[in-house]
Amino acid sequence: MCRVIYLEDNDIVHMRKGEYTVYNWNDVDSASVEVRRTIQTLTMEVGQIMKGGYDHYMQKEIFEQAETIAQTMQGRIKATPLSPIKFGVPNVDRLLYPRVRLGGLVDFVSTIRRSRRIIFIGCGTSYHAALCSRQTMEELTQMPVVLELAGDILDRRCPIFRDDTCVFVSQSGETADTMRAMEYAKGSGALCVGITNTVGSAIARSSHCGIHINAGAEIGVASTKAYTSQIVAITMMAIVLADDQISKRKRINEIVDSLLELPDAIKKCLLLDDSIRSLAESLKGENSLLMFGRGRNYATAVEAALKVKEVSYMHSEGINAGEMKHGPLALVDEHMPIIVFATKDEMHGKMQGVIQQLMARNARLIIICNEDEIDILDMVGDRYPLIMVPNADEALQPVVNIIPLQLLSYHLTLLRGFNVDQPRNLAKSVTVTEE
Ligand code: AGP
Repeated sequence: MCRVIYLEDNDIVHMRKGEYTVYNWNDVDSASVEVRRTIQTLTMEVGQIMKGGYDHYMQKEIFEQAETIAQTMQGRIKATPLSPIKFGVPNVDRLLYPRVRLGGLVDFVSTIRRSRRIIFIGCGTSYHAALCSRQTMEELTQMPVVLELAGDILDRRCPIFRDDTCVFVSQSGETADTMRAMEYAKGSGALCVGITNTVGSAIARSSHCGIHINAGAEIGVASTKAYTSQIVAITMMAIVLADDQISKRKRINEIVDSLLELPDAIKKCLLLDDSIRSLAESLKGENSLLMFGRGRNYATAVEAALKVKEVSYMHSEGINAGEMKHGPLALVDEHMPIIVFATKDEMHGKMQGVIQQLMARNARLIIICNEDEIDILDMVGDRYPLIMVPNADEALQPVVNIIPLQLLSYHLTLLRGFNVDQPRNLAKSVTVTEE
């Protein structure tokens, strides 16, 4: 229960020793006069207000991703004149270049382009966001891109060079391992870029330059909206770095078009909530859940597995489908639930082969595919549940694909009776590190 006063325009409140007086100053010539403002009692708890009417922070943060992704892009994608593509407006006589501008990188773009390699460093979900975006960064920049877990880079004391660009991805900007990895990289003279969601955080302050993902405060321990905004931010970074390459212009235009359509695709995906809750009902008693993905959707598989295990306490493992025959296939039988990511991207054909191999072993599949999928429907008929998601450019399809799995982990947790926002043993920001 909390009590509030709603102030009017030009109200000024003077507080002293627990007492307060409200004045209203409606124009510069008149002295402010004391006014009465009634105290109102809010029936909703502050926490409930912060949840925006949702039952949990995690639910709110999943459902606000269309808006937060738009916030991540806001003011950073501009159309400039004279480009060889239509900017989506019919019979426009002047064509436009979509250009991305990241103010926090402007002075460092040429340095990054000249660097020996780009090393992404992070933990947990932030690491997965980098894993998901690596291929786009490689494709657009043609630069070597390396991924490192922050803790592991410190354990190995791996070589970092002064002409490296190290990109530290961290929602909180306070993760100790990531912070220590930055100090280690700085000691080598590398350029340190921070991609964070928290203004003024240690990583944001210590990096040479960076990108703020603008996803708004993320309260739930399980990271959801930060993950999707991190992927969008890294994708925009790749576009900025490739902006000087005419040969990449067509590909950049395709990705930017898909970026601008992403909020609507996510809104559409969130409409799957009821069917995902039903799926969670059918899975809530399971001991383990496997996720198979390939290419960019390998990141989707490992991120989905992390979500499921960290909130519902159900064991889950993300597996690169290309590795299936090197061991994981032994786990496949008619009981083990397996979620397969088979949306239309560069791995679509190979994932159809994976589904065929799993079907031959009488596997228990749940297939994530696109709404306009035909081949897989012909292949499986009504043998397996299909989760059909909107289409996006293959560089951004994983952003859409993770939404049903975020919802699944949320519903599984509720059905299994656990705390969605504060899972046991975990903290929102891991500010301690094992020595
Ligand atoms: C995400 O769901 C996890 N809670 C955790 O893996 C988190 O992503 C990791 O601790 C990194 O946190 P950061 O992004 O704040 O650095």
